[in-house]
Amino acid sequence: MSSSSSFNAKEHQKMLRSYFNGNGFSRWASIYGNDKLSTVRSTVRQGHAVMMDEAFAWIEKLNLPKGATILDAGCGTGLFSIRLAENGYRVKAVDIASQMVGKAKEDATAKGVANMIDFEVNTIEEVKGQYDAVVCFDVLIHYPAEGFVNAFQNLSSLTKSPIIFTYAPYNRILAFQHWLGGYFPKKERRTTIQMIRDEQMQEAMQSTKMAVKTKKKISFGFYHTMLMHAERR
Ligand SMILES: C[S@@+](CC[C@H](N)C(=O)[O-])C[C@H]1O[C@@H](n2cnc3c(N)ncnc32)[C@H](O)[C@@H]1O
Repeated sequence: MSSSSSFNAKEHQKMLRSYFNGNGFSRWASIYGNDKLSTVRSTVRQGHAVMMDEAFAWIEKLNLPKGATILDAGCGTGLFSIRLAENGYRVKAVDIASQMVGKAKEDATAKGVANMIDFEVNTIEEVKGQYDAVVCFDVLIHYPAEGFVNAFQNLSSLTKSPIIFTYAPYNRILAFQHWLGGYFPKKERRTTIQMIRDEQMQEAMQSTKMAVKTKKKISFGFYHTMLMHAERR
């Protein structure tokens, strides 16, 4: 991995924790909730819903036994954790931001599935355990390649089976749009969405001994992501 020595994992986590417990919480909680949104953000909500439907179909295709355990790494407000729990999976829902975990717990309780979910305020780099599958949606998009590998290394050690995750593939036009800003407050614009080049993804897969099984680009309005299913080689 071409390493930029300027990446500081702890500082990066600190910035993300503070963003997702503050402005980031209100922004993303409204995107993932039912609030009325601007056109741009409502395409993000719809694109995210398309991605979750696809990811859920991939999970179902794994034919995991009833009660299988799934780690939702960076669970946010718990949309996917709750869906998994409603469908009989046992979930570990982890997020760096206590605000997010609090909201996920509240919604899971309201939907009557909190007993199927073990919530924890923790990071994707430090969470422990062994799971039948790991999912990590729209979290690694906030990591530059160096941090990505580090986080991915931990996540891949937590399962013998698949990791289903999203990342932002490099795209010149989107790079320019992100540079211009749009989703985030000024000071966080350039640090929140990080695009990964194909060669960086290949290096990440090699160094974690994982292989890509399936991938699907999901583009909907302002929501662009790559959904990927990786497994141990
Ligand atoms: C854009 S939201 C996605 C939430 C959820 N996965 C979803 O798709 O609905 C990103 C989430 O990642 C969490 N996050 C960011 N960095 C993290 C880290 N290092 N460890 C755990 N969670 C992290 C944030 O707090 C936030 O809840």
